[in-house]
Amino acid sequence: MEWNEGKRRGKSFPHKGTNKGPIPAKKFAGKPAVGAAKPGNDKGWDGVAGWYDKLVGADGSDYHQNVILPGVMELLDIQKGDAVVDVCCGQGVLVKHLLIAGAGKIHGVDASDKLISAARQRNGGKPRVSFEVADACGKAPWAEGSFDKAACVMAVHDVPDAAALMKNVSAALKPGGSFAIVMMHPCFRIPKESHWGWDGDQKVQFRRLDKYGSALEIAIQTRPGLNTGEGTVFYHRPLADLLTVIGAAGMGVTKCTELFSHRRSQSGPFSKAEHKAAEEFPLFLGIKAVKM
Ligand SMILES: C[S@@+](CC[C@H](N)C(=O)[O-])C[C@H]1O[C@@H](n2cnc3c(N)ncnc32)[C@H](O)[C@@H]1O
Repeated sequence: MEWNEGKRRGKSFPHKGTNKGPIPAKKFAGKPAVGAAKPGNDKGWDGVAGWYDKLVGADGSDYHQNVILPGVMELLDIQKGDAVVDVCCGQGVLVKHLLIAGAGKIHGVDASDKLISAARQRNGGKPRVSFEVADACGKAPWAEGSFDKAACVMAVHDVPDAAALMKNVSAALKPGGSFAIVMMHPCFRIPKESHWGWDGDQKVQFRRLDKYGSALEIAIQTRPGLNTGEGTVFYHRPLADLLTVIGAAGMGVTKCTELFSHRRSQSGPFSKAEHKAAEEFPLFLGIKAVKM
């Protein structure tokens, strides 16, 4: 899972990776990891649900707690009584924040049966909260214009058909309703194609991108060290493609935020450069889009 990008200093440029890199979307012919979400697979992260539920827990990962959830709540700007749909809700990490903010109704949708079961277990008996197993890119019984707000947290890059996702979200919203996205920053965070590097002459930690402009389908192993073969697929799309499908679904972008890491390295010979890089390169992108 590359949310962490623990390894800050890669090899000096040029870097020779050991992996074979991503598989371009059009030519995807590799063997997907076990449980991987593939085009046409409407089970989402079911194959890695146990691992993901443990990673996120009741309160969210470190990044959820410090960066992602505050970022999405700011974009959502919940008003008392708002009806909210959380698309690709996973095991429901956003729910308690929505309740605290005063949402009147919360409906979580995810393709993974197992993650929805975990969400139900955590939120059972809460009268304002409901969940549904559904492919966010498929037929969407939940998308009938009844919601004031919609959220999609760390998942736009996990669905195979972003245009279908946006159409469903737009159909779920009332006119004037808004959609908050927080996702891996598509300009700086492309698994296997973006890396940290160290320029020893300039004493600069730089960000290296080997690909950006092509849509990519990248196989991710969730526990590479353990060799379980479990994984997911990450769908990289250039920013222009993402904004275009939001617009095509009848929503207009009204706000954009770039979210930076809260983490700072320990003191040491690289810490000044690492701090600077952490302040210059955002990890996540936040978008607020309003249904027109
Ligand atoms: C990285 S997780 C994020 C989950 C949650 N929003 C969070 O922040 O913890 C990505 C989620 O997208 C879901 N997902 C992937 N493809 C999907 C699809 N086609 N329809 C609905 N959910 C999908 C997965 O099952 C998984 O729960």
